[in-house]
Amino acid sequence: MILGIESSCDDSSVALLDIKNLKLIYHKKISQDEEHSKFGGVVPELAARLHTAALPRLIEEIKPNFNDIKAVAVTNEPGLTVSLVGGVSMAKALSVGLNVPLIGVNHLIGHIYSLFLESEARFPLGVMLVSGGHTMILNVDERGEIRLIASTMDDSFGESFDKVAKMLDLGYPGGVEVEKAAKKGHDRFKFTVPLMNDSRLAYSFSGLKNQVRVEIERLKEGGNLSEQDISDICFAFENAACKHIMNKLEKVFNERKFKRFGVVGGASANLNLRSRIEKLCAKFECELLLTPLKFCSDNAAMIARAGREKYLKKEFVKFNDLKINPRVKFDEA
Ligand code: KG4
Ligand code: ZN
Repeated sequence: MILGIESSCDDSSVALLDIKNLKLIYHKKISQDEEHSKFGGVVPELAARLHTAALPRLIEEIKPNFNDIKAVAVTNEPGLTVSLVGGVSMAKALSVGLNVPLIGVNHLIGHIYSLFLESEARFPLGVMLVSGGHTMILNVDERGEIRLIASTMDDSFGESFDKVAKMLDLGYPGGVEVEKAAKKGHDRFKFTVPLMNDSRLAYSFSGLKNQVRVEIERLKEGGNLSEQDISDICFAFENAACKHIMNKLEKVFNERKFKRFGVVGGASANLNLRSRIEKLCAKFECELLLTPLKFCSDNAAMIARAGREKYLKKEFVKFNDLKINPRVKFDEA
């Protein structure tokens, strides 16, 4: 088995994956949503402290499997430095203690492998990655090489949901809450879709977030926001954010022929976005791959899965060479 460890942001997670048949033997995560919710976002020092408490609890549960572990795969990039340290330190200790090789996994590549959790990967593949930290269109070639087609110039898609949720006091993380409120919303507000008349293949969500802020302030002048006001704002915001994703994505689909296309990352759980991408793929006769909803947000199963590929290629890293990188860049396509 491969042991996977994830602690790049605010989820502590551990997984065991069978190297041969790709069966997930164990997977658990301890989320810190509640603890960060009162601050309206992730507090790095708090996250680090909670990882230090949660990871040993999870590792304790898999002790009976220690003898079957052939390698330890851990997220070492990108993410919050103080959070990554927790998982990487634990992975290093286990790799020494169990005398098995160490594998560093890029969290974003982990998200891509969440499409193939219990099956062999199928490349080439186009990918829309939407999470709290990233918004990217990627191309994965036959050999699994990743190139960047488009990314955000400011906030990410998921982050913009979190910020809108914070403005509306809906708690953290905001994606799920905004989506839930939007379902009860009516077509009342008109937010401009970002970069509509801009030919650049890029995303930007900060202007949209500001439009929402201005509308909330205007409504508040007339008294407290009603539940319907909140739902109507979420409805308009979610649709504008999704339309922005789709405008640029359709441009990419027009420019290059994808054989298959995957949607990954925490925010890929958004059903509005999923159904729009489903329609786009149908129009372009492209096979659509979706991560199971349970594995969209950060988890160690995808890290163990990505680590398994590196295990087969013997891409191990020495104890002292496994470094933490808060930010990583893909070469452009
Ligand atoms: O991948 P992930 O778990 O963490 C990062 O790697 O960033 O993504 C978390 C992000 C958060 O910003 C969260 O609000 C967003 O994904 N998210 C959603 C939904 N569920 C989670 N955004 C929109 N709609 C959702 N249903
Ligand atoms: Zn993530």
